[in-house]
Amino acid sequence: MVDELRGKITKLRDFKSSDGAAAFKIVGDDRVTSFLSFDSRSPGMAQKMVDDAIARIDGALRTEYYLAITRIDDDELIGTCRIAFSGVKAAKLGYAMAAEQWGNGYTTDAVQTILTFAFGTLDLHRITAAIGPDNHASQAVVKKLGFTREGVLRDHVFTNGAWRDSVLFSVLNREWPAT
Ligand SMILES: CC(C)(COP(=O)(O)OP(=O)(O)OC[C@H]1O[C@@H](n2cnc3c(N)ncnc32)[C@H](O)[C@@H]1OP(=O)(O)O)[C@@H](O)C(=O)NCCC(=O)NCCS
Repeated sequence: MVDELRGKITKLRDFKSSDGAAAFKIVGDDRVTSFLSFDSRSPGMAQKMVDDAIARIDGALRTEYYLAITRIDDDELIGTCRIAFSGVKAAKLGYAMAAEQWGNGYTTDAVQTILTFAFGTLDLHRITAAIGPDNHASQAVVKKLGFTREGVLRDHVFTNGAWRDSVLFSVLNREWPAT
């Protein structure tokens, strides 16, 4: 289990089984999933996603930190944030926020928190984020946090019935924190 990670306006914690309904508001919403690599999920699939993530927490070798984002002063899941280990001291970053919460700075705060954990406690070297070329909000998040644009991954994901490029961004341990 990860101890609660506190940012300025959000907290990150491991999932609980009772997060299923709140997770469905995110992964069942086309406004959110149209930017992700999977189609919108049913309430049952959202619950399974949460329960599967919980089942992976206590594995002997943790290969990801897939965490719930809550506001700093309550415990309700409003978003998700994940780093998945990939390569040597490296991880891939992903996140999603409930649409009614967009624009409040919650994701930027949560990603800042998980990056500090990743480069500090976990001593990772490199974190990448692969973002759709039209996903301007997500690109704004990583740019605010000092990521560098590396290039384009061609036909990187199959989503919304078609292949889609991704723009690859990265940040290195020695560059953190950017400000
Ligand atoms: C990407 C996402 C997680 C951002 O969540 P959020 O909590 O609204 O993010 P923040 O409020 O911390 O920051 C968003 C930034 O994007 C900017 N932004 C929003 N829409 C934008 C647009 N169309 N063009 C340019 N910038 C935009 C905001 O102005 C803000 O920047 P600012 O603080 O400088 O004003 C959210 O939009 C989301 O869930 N999208 C769908 C899922 C997704 O794309 N996940 C990432 C996959 S790579």
